[in-house]
Amino acid sequence: MDVKTYIENNKERLLEELFDLLRIPSISAIKEYKNSIRDAASFLKNKLKNLGLDNCEICETAGYPIVYAEKIKDPNLPTVLIYGHYDVQPVDPIELWNSDPFEPIVKKTNIHPEGAIFARGSCDDKGQMYMHLKAIEVLNNTSGVPCNIKFMIEGEEEIGSDNLEVFVKENKEKLKCDIILVSDTGMIDKDIPSITTGLRGLAYLEVELTGPNRDLHSGLYGGSVANPINSLARMISNLHDENNRITIPGFYDDVIEYSDEERKKNGLVPFDINEFKNSLEINDVHGEKSYTTLERKSIRPCLDVNGIWGGYTDEGSKTVIPSKAFAKISMRLVSNQNWKKISKLFKDYMKKMTPTGMKLKVNEHHGGEPYITSTDSKAYLAASEAYNSVYNKKPFSVKDGGSIPIIAQFEKELGVKTILMGFGLDSDAIHSPNEHFGLSNYYNGIETISNFYKFFTK
Ligand code: BES
Ligand code: MN
Ligand code: MN
Repeated sequence: MDVKTYIENNKERLLEELFDLLRIPSISAIKEYKNSIRDAASFLKNKLKNLGLDNCEICETAGYPIVYAEKIKDPNLPTVLIYGHYDVQPVDPIELWNSDPFEPIVKKTNIHPEGAIFARGSCDDKGQMYMHLKAIEVLNNTSGVPCNIKFMIEGEEEIGSDNLEVFVKENKEKLKCDIILVSDTGMIDKDIPSITTGLRGLAYLEVELTGPNRDLHSGLYGGSVANPINSLARMISNLHDENNRITIPGFYDDVIEYSDEERKKNGLVPFDINEFKNSLEINDVHGEKSYTTLERKSIRPCLDVNGIWGGYTDEGSKTVIPSKAFAKISMRLVSNQNWKKISKLFKDYMKKMTPTGMKLKVNEHHGGEPYITSTDSKAYLAASEAYNSVYNKKPFSVKDGGSIPIIAQFEKELGVKTILMGFGLDSDAIHSPNEHFGLSNYYNGIETISNFYKFFTK
């Protein structure tokens, strides 16, 4: 039987199995869900076992467990390591969901007229990760798996992969492989495939600015005492100049500038600025001067406030000068920026801008390095052939704006490159209410991944 026919004949079950996984609310950020996290890990371990893989185990860490399994056919054959994550983002704001985030349903959308799976994790990353297990099932029932495989699926990607980093450092021999395969990114459009050759890094910090020792009456004290919210707002607005460049001294020092030729090539990736604006209901775009929107959201770094609070925010009015102001600030980084170095530059600059008489505290959250890879490796070409065999189009190579910090770590610790075969769409609303994943993306993904092995071992 061929791959296409097998998938067609097993369509319903392939979907039902994913639904079972999606029903488990494995939210890593919220402690109350820790049993569900374990349920998701056991679910996957069992599925890997059923595929006939060996050494299927749940590897304990200081946090949530890592699911591991392998099939070593012949040590002389190449080894593919598949990485994905079974944890998902929180669902808030729950009132904006049109259906239960953990009761998957198929609904038609304009972009997915054949239907899309609505559930938290459907695209990021359960749906995409599960395609890899199903591709192995497909191969088991068709031509066979032509090389060695290892699965490593973690439960802490959405909270920074700290314990996976430790696991990788401590298990270099176990994780030995020739290439790492990951589906946790996107493609350009439903029928325009792409392979991600760049991911941005991340530095995430939280600042706390303290003025007077208590909240003050804004009439008795207003005008005579510096207000930490006013001051923090000023400090934050100073982080960009009039060209929307980041003003932190040294911030751009390690940024790779692309040549005109490379920029031209990157610019050939289909991108419709009007569709971009329409989909967000904004009538203009914004960003660093002299760069295109596509560049701003992929090969250029950026700085954003993710949340800001302080003072009185409840109903009605309360006349008060707050004692404290807070903000969560993230910077997306590009090669060769280093997140620890950038975090320090940020801290120093914010300290320098702190008005006399105020105290600044800066806390570092998780971070991660950016990643880039080339388009001429054997594995890249195999992935390209695989997309071509399903979509009848060679995939574009694209730089993505999101981050998967462990990918750069894989390269550093294991010396192995990663191929990012994404099947999600920007419109799939990952991390947002009503996250979904197209049925055709799911089935085509399984087929593409199945075919990858053929081309990779040819
Ligand atoms: N799968 C995403 C990253 C992603 C999505 C990359 C689409 C490229 C295209 C991943 O699960 C994610 O959300 N990463 C976080 C970083 C993490 C440290 C919380 C991110 O990018 O914000
Ligand atoms: Mn993900
Ligand atoms: Mn995510």
